[in-house]
Amino acid sequence: MKNKKTLLLCSYGLDPAQITLETMNELKTCDAVFSGALEGGREELIRPYCRKLVITDGGRWESAAEKMFEAFKNFDKIAYLVYGNPFFLNPPALRLARKAKSLGIEFRVLAGISSFDAIVNQLGLGNFSAGGLRLINLGDGRRQERKLDAKLDTFFFSLWILGGKHKAFLKEIRAAYGPRHPAFLIDHPRCARTTVGALENALAAARLTTTLYLPAGKP
Ligand SMILES: C[S@@+](CC[C@H](N)C(=O)[O-])C[C@H]1O[C@@H](n2cnc3c(N)ncnc32)[C@H](O)[C@@H]1O
Repeated sequence: MKNKKTLLLCSYGLDPAQITLETMNELKTCDAVFSGALEGGREELIRPYCRKLVITDGGRWESAAEKMFEAFKNFDKIAYLVYGNPFFLNPPALRLARKAKSLGIEFRVLAGISSFDAIVNQLGLGNFSAGGLRLINLGDGRRQERKLDAKLDTFFFSLWILGGKHKAFLKEIRAAYGPRHPAFLIDHPRCARTTVGALENALAAARLTTTLYLPAGKP
């Protein structure tokens, strides 16, 4: 009889020190743990919980996933370890789940601390504006379809996608909020408070892990 195969999609949170007990215990039961999200010596914090840790050196999810599905020839239980919450703003997670299903591999996801959680706590966002909180992923390629609304608290994720071409985006937010409106650039645990009018240089310096928060207000 063929052995049951299981793929765990799990996370260490935003930092390997935030890994949950649940995830640590599951990693210990895996034949192999794959990750492209451990760098700068941080893998040494995770290695003690893995029978075999395979670092896929960042790069594209697809090539890492290919190697991982290949490894199911020799292993029954594999974990793919990412940062943040595995499904939050991460379309490859769904592709991984579908591929596992199509191959008859059981798929489970274990939650982790996401950038959203970190930002909410960092800014002390105990409640939201009457209009609520809006999450915008600039990386979804749908900017033309969207109209900004200053009545909503808004998080803009994946700023890096603007890649220096942020003039049109700045124009949009200036028109919606006005130049004196407060703006927060968060690269957790760092946070810079500025105004919409003074965002230009800060936006140009946005990193892969920078999120913009604009609280609701009048233009
Ligand atoms: C592709 S999404 C992945 C999010 C991830 N799944 C999570 O749960 O945080 C990447 C975006 O998340 C946000 N992000 C990731 N790390 C962050 C951090 N340390 N501080 C603030 N935002 C962060 C940024 O907007 C970044 O461009």
